Amino acid sequence: MDVIDKARRAGINWLDLLWLGFLAGLAFLPPVTEYHKLAILLVFGALQLTEGWIVSKLPKRGTSYVVVLKIVLAMLLLDHTGEVSINSTYWPIYFLPIMTAAEYFGPWPTLAWTALAATSYCSYLIPALQEYEITAEAYELLAIRVLFFFLAAMVVNRFVVEIRRQTRKYQQLAETLAETNLKLEQAQAEARRSERLAALGQLSAGLAHEIRNPLGVIKGSAEMLGQKLGQSDPLATELAGYISSETNRLSDLVTRFLNFARPLQADLIPQSLIVVLDRALSDVASVRKDLPVQVEKHYDENLPDVPLDESLSEQAFVNIVQNAYDAMGPAGGRLQVRAERTQSDGIDGIQVQICDSGPGIAPELREQIFNPFVTTKKTGVGLGLSIVSKIMDGHHGFIRVQLRAEGDAQTGACFVMFFPAANEDSTNRMVAPLIASGSAGMRDRL
Ligand SMILES: Nc1ncnc2c1ncn2[C@@H]1O[C@H](COP(=O)(O)OP(=O)(O)O)[C@@H](O)[C@H]1O
Ligand SMILES: [Mg+2]
Repeated sequence: MDVIDKARRAGINWLDLLWLGFLAGLAFLPPVTEYHKLAILLVFGALQLTEGWIVSKLPKRGTSYVVVLKIVLAMLLLDHTGEVSINSTYWPIYFLPIMTAAEYFGPWPTLAWTALAATSYCSYLIPALQEYEITAEAYELLAIRVLFFFLAAMVVNRFVVEIRRQTRKYQQLAETLAETNLKLEQAQAEARRSERLAALGQLSAGLAHEIRNPLGVIKGSAEMLGQKLGQSDPLATELAGYISSETNRLSDLVTRFLNFARPLQADLIPQSLIVVLDRALSDVASVRKDLPVQVEKHYDENLPDVPLDESLSEQAFVNIVQNAYDAMGPAGGRLQVRAERTQSDGIDGIQVQICDSGPGIAPELREQIFNPFVTTKKTGVGLGLSIVSKIMDGHHGFIRVQLRAEGDAQTGACFVMFFPAANEDSTNRMVAPLIASGSAGMRDRL
């Protein structure tokens, strides 16, 4: 029985009052002076009023108790309303327990309860048979009454079951709607965030562009100053050197930022992914050769060529591998690189998995690290992964952090990149210059 049923049952409603009206009507019909009959009708009325309360207090057994009580009361009423109980004109009172059962139970239990009610009614045959002879016509009449019990039970039960089914359907629909609403709200919040980031991105790209020109002048002037002073003023030369080297650093940062903010043109040409991947791995390894990192490669045999922009995809791999080296630190560790044929959302492609043995990524950072300027490193800029996610968008692929399975002894971070195999519109894709575009697109797939 569902919640709605219970709610409807708890408390008195106008239908209950109507029931009481009917029972009162019965009280004023003969035999009027039969006080037992009046008492039974009174108990029936009380039961009708308290039924909802009983069912809500005893959710498991309450319904059965109510039906049994009504059958017993019906028997008693028949016993007090006819010289021969089986002949009592009050026999339709049995419809009460039958309807109640049909309302609360499924089809089979309803049939069983109806059978019990019919048996209790027919049990009055026993005393009648002792005193009278019963004609075939009387048996037929009894059979018709009993069949009507079953008919009524089934009709009401079908109706109730259908209502219950509909209610459940609407409840599920309401739940799905609530869920969709929540998703919509989240999507709207993300869209607002993306818009803000995009506006910020455009603003800062403009700013960065404007900063680059004076930086060039400062750098040139500092270098000239250094040359002019020569050995005559060592302190001033040293300071000019600082100005020059720090300007270089600033200029490098601005260039990196502008590279990120600029529209990205991916020239997709089908080629071997592992050639590019190997080159990225050896590039980073040669720069960080002082770190004891053991690189383990597991490549599927006969991997197909996939549409790649050679330099962009190499940059993406380099960024991921550099992060892995950074994470493992001076102690070094193990870098596992896998490349395998796979399918994502029904699209064929190659999946590259790069896992390190570093400390891993905190759960609360897992989504954020793809946003620009999110970094946990002292000298980090936080653009590496957002550039990777933009490059992956340019390849119609995606990048995500792979969650470690529970009980996995490995602790390090694991990045999964998916490159789809050739498809019709996979050539020369332009990715918008918006900062948020890369990360928002990627978040959708996380
Ligand atoms: N392999 C990794 N292990 C642990 N943390 C990582 C790993 N890769 C990236 N991260 C986290 O993601 C952040 C963002 O990385 P990234 O965008 O490349 O910027 P940056 O390298 O400049 O910090 C890093 O600061 C680090 O906290
Ligand atoms: Mg990085």
